[in-house]
Order: sequence, then structure tokens, then C-alpha cells
Amino acid sequence: MNAPRCDQTDAWAALKDHFNTHGRDFDLRKAFEFDDCRFEDLAIEAPDVFADLSKNRVDRSTLQHLIALARECRVEDRRDHMFAGDLANVTEGRAVLHVALRAPRGRGVFSDEVHEVLDAMLTYAEQIRDTTISGIRHVVNIGIGGSDLGPQMVVPALDAFALRELTLHFVSNVDGHDITPVLRDLDPAETLFIIASKTFTTQETMANAQVAKAWFLANGGTDITKHFVATTTNIVAAREFGITTTFGFWDWVGGRYSMWSSVGLPIALAIGADNFRALLTGAHMMDQHFVQAPLEKNLPIVLGLLDVWYRNFHGCASRSVAPYHQGLGRLPAYLQQLEMESNGKCVDLDGNSLPFATSPVVWGEPGTNGQHAYFQMLHQGTDLIPVEFILVKRPTHGLHDLHTKLLANGLAQAQALMLGKSTAQALTELAPTASAHLDARTVARHRTFPGNRPSTTLVLDELTPRSLGALIALYEHRVFVSGSLWGINSFDQWGVELGKALCGDLLPRLESGDEANLDGSTVGLLRRLRA
Ligand code: F6P
Repeated sequence: MNAPRCDQTDAWAALKDHFNTHGRDFDLRKAFEFDDCRFEDLAIEAPDVFADLSKNRVDRSTLQHLIALARECRVEDRRDHMFAGDLANVTEGRAVLHVALRAPRGRGVFSDEVHEVLDAMLTYAEQIRDTTISGIRHVVNIGIGGSDLGPQMVVPALDAFALRELTLHFVSNVDGHDITPVLRDLDPAETLFIIASKTFTTQETMANAQVAKAWFLANGGTDITKHFVATTTNIVAAREFGITTTFGFWDWVGGRYSMWSSVGLPIALAIGADNFRALLTGAHMMDQHFVQAPLEKNLPIVLGLLDVWYRNFHGCASRSVAPYHQGLGRLPAYLQQLEMESNGKCVDLDGNSLPFATSPVVWGEPGTNGQHAYFQMLHQGTDLIPVEFILVKRPTHGLHDLHTKLLANGLAQAQALMLGKSTAQALTELAPTASAHLDARTVARHRTFPGNRPSTTLVLDELTPRSLGALIALYEHRVFVSGSLWGINSFDQWGVELGKALCGDLLPRLESGDEANLDGSTVGLLRRLRA
């Protein structure tokens, strides 16, 4: 599709002017002072997700400039082409249709194929969940990247909905320290292995699958066909491994967008068919919002635009995600693959080098843990790092006192980032842990917070399969929006290839010690590791 890159538009030039005259020195505190409606104006209500954008360094005029950029880059056309099944992944010549995986029966592209596999996968999941008949108590998902991170993130997030009789385990790393403790206490007769790999060739997954198979046979396991299943597009390779129960998907599902496909089997085993369908429903609701909402109130569009605003104008090299829900502990890791593998690119669709920055580093930990670790840097460090708070109004536990404290902490952090504290204010306050020998003005300077640090707060009423589906789809589309503005292919991942190839070359050298044609550092390390 022929659409301009962000920096080739008039809107980009106008944004630059706007940033110089209005954006660089924008002060959130003043913005609230002069605008009583700021919170209401900068709130977006998307399906199951409310967003408070008012603590971002923008106002209506900034948003107008950003929306003009989205229009000129034809983000809506790009979106519609993706939903229609056009070849959005141009460097691999593939359509990008994860949205079809959550479209109701008869409504999406490839609906018959999608729902046939979905029905079969969910029927199988329910059979295994009938543990008195299946005899299965433990499920080990062996996969990496997109064949791991989605289920590994969702299963603990939806723990309140999970079947207690089944324990889910996740093995991803080719490091034997990953699989060893998992296998230690398992009984082959009660264990189901899922070998999850889109390609069924990934080194780590294949190596761990072989370890699992050997362990199974060595410990009295007899029926591989009953205790091993595969979720893959490469059904032939799975059969060669000895697996007869396979749930397929298609090359138009990118690995990092695959948890909605049969790769979601661990999720379905944990939470059951109805809840899995609710997860898909939530994602579909967000898909519809993305397609139908006007740009100004379209949450993935506005978040994607803000990402460009911070990355390319304010120079923010990272964004921190702070889910105030322990179950979302793996969300930052999931988002790292989603965003950084999608948008960590330095050439445009035509292969031209980009003159601007792309994907920020995405990182974080659940609140409140992060507060007692790196939040110091967010408040008083030298970098401007936008923070994304995720708050959940109602918990699924009954410990309301704890939950109130959790919410108060989340609110307080966002407030502190924005308001900061002046030196004059710090001078008037006691600093209980400060040395009495220090000059009060010096201490006050250390206790000054610059403030004006931006954050977004996303609020879910509850963390349910549906709201989690909506939240994840929101992130997927937001990454699509920033990728479209930057004019890059968000759906390939050539950057992971070189390391894989070099690993293939180094693997035999670790055995043989062959140093021919290696760089000095690698030779030194090879010797050290072999000594
Ligand atoms: O190496 C990167 C990658 O290709 C990811 O994009 C993908 O999610 C992961 O490896 C796993 O690939 P597969 O599902 O084919 O094993």
C-alpha cells in the first residue's frame, strides 16, 4: 500500500513546529490549572478499558496535530488492509490476520478454518480438564517467544478462573535449569506435554521436546500419542516427532500474535472453553473499537500516536509498564516481544534507513514491587520515561484492605510523577532519615522532585478473560499504529536470524575447539569456556 512515512508528511513538519513552540516546555501542572475539563477531555472509554491520558504532555492542539499525522500516513487505510487480509507482512509475503482468530463464527476472514480448529482445540481441552477421566494433573508447555509468552502471561493473570486440579508449567529456555526442576516432581502418567512451535524447528523448543520425550520414556511413560500434543503450522514435523494430536494454525498468524490460535491451548486447559471464548470476545470488541471509533477517541490510535510523540519529539528511549496486579507479572515480558520484536527496526518498508528512532525499550514490574526498586529513577533520574499504570478496580480475592492500599499506591505514584516537589516545599518538611549534620538546603535539594513526568493510567473494572483479551488486543493495535506511522514492517523479525545462524556455527566449535576465522573476543571466551 502506498502511504507516506511519518517524516515525509506536512503534519510531521507542523508537529516539529508545535513541539518547539508548545511541546518541549509543556507543563502538566499548569495544564490542569488552566483547564478544568482536562481529565474528561483526555479520557477514552474503550471496551473494558478506560484510559486517563490527562497526565500526558499533550493538550487538544497536540492531539489535533497527531491525528493529522495519522490521517496523512493513512493509518486507517493500512488498518483496513490488514483486516481485509492483504499482504501486510510485505517482507515475508504474508497476510496478518490474528484479528480473524477472534472474529465470531462467519464474520472474519478464513472463518470456517479458524472455527474448526478452535472447536476441536476447546473440545480437547475440556476432555483433559475432566481429570478423573483423562488422568492428567500437570501440563507442560514447551515453546519459546510467541509460543510461550502469551500463555505464560495469561494463565497466572486469570488464576481466579483456573481449574485447581490442573497445574500448568512453562518451559522455554534451552538452559537445562529451566526444564530440570519442572520434570523433577512429575509423573509421566499424569503429565501432558504441549510442544508449541509455529515452525516446529526452533532449536530451544526441539531440544526441550527431545528431553521431555526421553524423560517420559525413561520414567515408565508408554503412550507418547496420548501424552504429547503439538500446536504448530508444521503438522508434518510434529508427526515425525511422534505426535498424532496436533492443532494447527496458519502462516498469517505471527508468533507474537498467536495466543488466540491453538497456541492458546494451555490457556484453554487452565480456564476452560467458555472463558477462552470470552478472551477472544474481549479482543474482538477491541478490534471493533479500533475499526469503528473516531480517531480522536480511538484508544489504540491515540496511544500509538503518543508513543511517537514521546519517542521522536521528547526523545524518550523507554517506556515503563506498571501493572498494579500481581497476576500481570509477565505482562511486561509479553509486551517486550510484542513491541520490540515488531517495531525494533531501522529500515522502512522499502529498505531505506530511517532518520528517526523507532521502538522504545519496554520494561516494568508489577506495582507496588517496582516502587521499591527502580521508581527512584522514574521520579528523580535524568531520563524522561513515560509510565503506564494499569489499575484494576475490583480484585478477585476478598482482601479489600490490601486492594485499597494497592490502588492508593498506583494513584500516588502517577500523582507524584506529575506534581513533583519543589525545593521550597521540601525545605518546609522534615526529612526523618537525613543526617542532622547536613545543611537543610542541601537536603532539600536532594528531596526535590522535578515532576512534570508523564503517565497514562488504564483502568479495568475487573481482570476477567474478556477484559484481558481487550487489553492485549489494545496493545497489539497500538504497536501496529506506531509501526504504520514509522513506515516499517511490524510483522517480520529478521533481527533474530543472525544470532541463530552464528549459534549453528559455534555449536560444534564448543566441542572441537576450532577457532578458525573467529574474532579475538569470541576466541578468548571459547577458550575460557572449554578450559
Ligand atoms: O526467534 C524469534 C521467533 O521467531 C519469534 O518470533 C517466535 O515467536 C519464536 O521465535 C518461536 O518460534 P516458533 O513458534 O516457530 O518455535
